[in-house]
Amino acid sequence: MPRIVETIVTTIDAAGTPHLAPLGLIEDGDLWIIAPFRPSRTLDNLLANPHAVASHTGDVRVFAGCITGRRDWPTVPADVVPGVRLQDAVSHWELSVVRMSDDAQRPRFHCRIVHAASHAVWSGYNRAEAAVLELAVLATRLSMLPPEKIDAELQYLEIAISKTAGPREREAWDWLMERITAFRRGDADAAQKR
Ligand SMILES: Cc1cc2nc3c(=O)[nH]c(=O)nc-3n(C[C@H](O)[C@H](O)[C@H](O)COP(=O)(O)O)c2cc1C
Repeated sequence: MPRIVETIVTTIDAAGTPHLAPLGLIEDGDLWIIAPFRPSRTLDNLLANPHAVASHTGDVRVFAGCITGRRDWPTVPADVVPGVRLQDAVSHWELSVVRMSDDAQRPRFHCRIVHAASHAVWSGYNRAEAAVLELAVLATRLSMLPPEKIDAELQYLEIAISKTAGPREREAWDWLMERITAFRRGDADAAQKR
């Protein structure tokens, strides 16, 4: 399996409006692949402007926030490509699309890192932060998973939350659980909220 790095990917539309979304970047030799499912704003934006910025952050609320309708995180302009990065990124990569492999479900944008910068000392993830990341992924796949699989994952991830969550992880967990609870109630609008 290739290495996949979970990041906050920023793209811009034709008017220059930024869009933040968590995406896993897939290592591909010297390049990194961004693979957005259809339909998505990230896909539309990459077609309009073949650049992206990947922000690496230890604040897992950004991952949970972006998929629960809380996308308004502070950004600053990127250094080289048109676009923005997270203001509080520990480090970031600026990417230019080299080529695209089209696909009916999940096109792949092969990108080169044209600039990288560090902004702080990385202090690692604790178990609660890793658990929030896992729950965020699960929360984007609710309609594809059997209910008992969701229950089993929740039970396991809650152990890490109860043992090691600080206020940020607790807040992120609560946002995600709101979405999962809404999905279980059959409240499709709330569950789809981005
Ligand atoms: C950690 C993490 C990794 C994700 N990776 C991907 C990915 O590689 N491709 C994708 O289409 N969605 C991925 N998602 C889901 C997207 O973030 C979510 O669907 C998002 O809203 C993208 O759609 P948008 O560009 O329209 O906002 C990921 C979510 C999380 C929490």
